[in-house]
Amino acid sequence: MRAVVVGASSGLGRCIGVDLGRRGDQVALLARRYDRLVDAAKETSPGALAIACDVTDESSCQAAIEEAAAGLGGIDALVYATGIGPLAPIEKHDADTWRRVLETNVIGAAVVTNAALPYLSASRGVAAYLSTLGATLTPAWPGFAGYHVSKAALEKLVEAFRVEHPAVGFTRFVVSDCGGGEGDARTEFNTGWDMAYAAQVMPVWRQRGYLNGALLELEKFLRVFDTVLRCGGTIPEVTVMPRPPL
Ligand SMILES: NC(=O)c1ccc[n+]([C@@H]2O[C@H](COP(=O)([O-])OP(=O)(O)OC[C@H]3O[C@@H](n4cnc5c(N)ncnc54)[C@H](OP(=O)(O)O)[C@@H]3O)[C@@H](O)[C@H]2O)c1
Repeated sequence: MRAVVVGASSGLGRCIGVDLGRRGDQVALLARRYDRLVDAAKETSPGALAIACDVTDESSCQAAIEEAAAGLGGIDALVYATGIGPLAPIEKHDADTWRRVLETNVIGAAVVTNAALPYLSASRGVAAYLSTLGATLTPAWPGFAGYHVSKAALEKLVEAFRVEHPAVGFTRFVVSDCGGGEGDARTEFNTGWDMAYAAQVMPVWRQRGYLNGALLELEKFLRVFDTVLRCGGTIPEVTVMPRPPL
């Protein structure tokens, strides 16, 4: 499989990219922090590509996908793991916050997918997008307005691509509470959060049953993700979450 993973410099995207390479796939790792990608590429298959890409810049997306397709000789799988989750009360989400989260989580996904479509259509390939419980499976969580609105839009975007491009297998992949791996592979999702505010809202998330106090094991996450990619578009949506502690 020739796979492009966007958002591969940290957390789940990095884990997915490294795992695919170790399973013998050809991978291209994309994100803004090029040095991180080079390190990740060294950990995975020989020939893994590190390509700088800012998903909020359309020309950067187009150039990165072209470079990946040329280097891999085509694209069979696209993984959109890029995502940001500003944490703040909804009334503190200013226009810049809304723009950033929608540009990164939604518009970037559309632009990257558009760039990859000719290659994915030619290979009858697959595309998987990481989403979250609060997008559509639970009510919105306090503090996560921008994040959950953007992921709900991402999920509709996945559906819209599926309707117009049936040659490609599009999957919405919902994951709940996975810390990723060690070092650079650990999730950096909460970097920059106001931890005092987080300490106020997290007990509410737990009380409402959105979090169960456990973390999803990385190995299980990767096994399910790998199955989704290898089953060639036969799994349009999947949710993985940790089992509650005894
Ligand atoms: N971890 C969880 O429990 C969990 C739960 C539900 C959903 N998810 C979803 O899973 C995905 C990965 O989350 P994570 O926990 O692994 O977070 P993370 O460690 O913060 O990873 C986010 C990735 O997105 C990239 N990114 C951010 N802005 C970008 C931009 N403008 N252009 C290109 N890449 C950009 C980052 O790379 P650069 O900064 O180098 O660009 C990084 O590689 C996200 O979509 C998240 O919503 C995670």
